[in-house]
Amino acid sequence: MADRLTLTIDGRQVSVPPGTTVLAAARLLGINIPTLCHLADLTPEGACRVCLVEADGVRGLAAACTLPAAAGMVVRTNTAAIREARALVVELLLANHPADCNACQRNLDCELQRLAADLGVRAVRFRGERRRYQPDDANPFIVRDNEKCVLCGRCVRVCKEVQVCNVLDWTERGFASKVTPAFDTALDGSACVFCGTCVSACPTGALAAKPLYEAGRPDKKVRTTCPFCGVGCNFDLNVKDGQVVGVTSDETSAVNGRLLCVKGRFGIDYVHSPDRLTAPLVKKDGAFVETSWDEALGLVAARLAGIKAAHGPDAIAALSSARCTNEENYLLQKFMRAVVGTNNIDHCART
Ligand code: FES
Repeated sequence: MADRLTLTIDGRQVSVPPGTTVLAAARLLGINIPTLCHLADLTPEGACRVCLVEADGVRGLAAACTLPAAAGMVVRTNTAAIREARALVVELLLANHPADCNACQRNLDCELQRLAADLGVRAVRFRGERRRYQPDDANPFIVRDNEKCVLCGRCVRVCKEVQVCNVLDWTERGFASKVTPAFDTALDGSACVFCGTCVSACPTGALAAKPLYEAGRPDKKVRTTCPFCGVGCNFDLNVKDGQVVGVTSDETSAVNGRLLCVKGRFGIDYVHSPDRLTAPLVKKDGAFVETSWDEALGLVAARLAGIKAAHGPDAIAALSSARCTNEENYLLQKFMRAVVGTNNIDHCART
């Protein structure tokens, strides 16, 4: 089998390895084919039909995300018939979608909304039965609103293929099709680990992070590194009125892509907790009382020196933390070895 094949897309030739889809080949040429159910890190599903193209020898319009490129293939991505078909697909999706965009957490960040704008879908001509579901919000982390679901299956595939939890899948068939945990239960009580990767993959407001759902649109996003462990995942703190209101992941992150654990995605509310220690505490007469850093550090230094003098340096040990930076961990082992004089240094991540 040849290791490259050449096809023509919109009059331009491109060579790709066998197995490449027409969508991927078009993107190599910088040709934009709209997609909805497609995510580059997931198995192509061909569910939404937004990526329709014409290919000589292929009957009707074909989904570019699942159509394999073939040698000599001639593809068109932007004819009037294609634009009309794509717009019709989006119009049909909107016909069965709540029209509450202004109140939706994904307003201006919704892929369905953007597709409608890009494809010129200004009004919906179709009226008929609408799906009616109650949102599932009986957990602290994720709001699942099946009325906003476009059945793209991105959450199903990301849960299965990337997070490998297999919590979400299809239930019912035809008009009643919907995405749910097994036996159509709520997320709370299913095998969900609340990593929120499905939220990051959802193109609409069908899956939303509850903190952000309740806070409304953030003012800005600030890229930072998760403080919870040594993996160093990157995420965006969502900030509103000077307060951190939630976390979103970004598939372009070099460390973790769209993946985060439940702590990184949902455990950041401690930042503004009134229970946080803001001053050192020293135990006096059996109770902790606030004190100055000078007094606290002086007390620690005196006690360590006293123990070392009475029992030797190996009577002292330090346990470092994955929640510290590399530099802080380096400093602690240096302090124990060079100042205290012991090799009794360990790290919580080694457990
Ligand atoms: S993006 Fe190709 S069918 Fe959905």
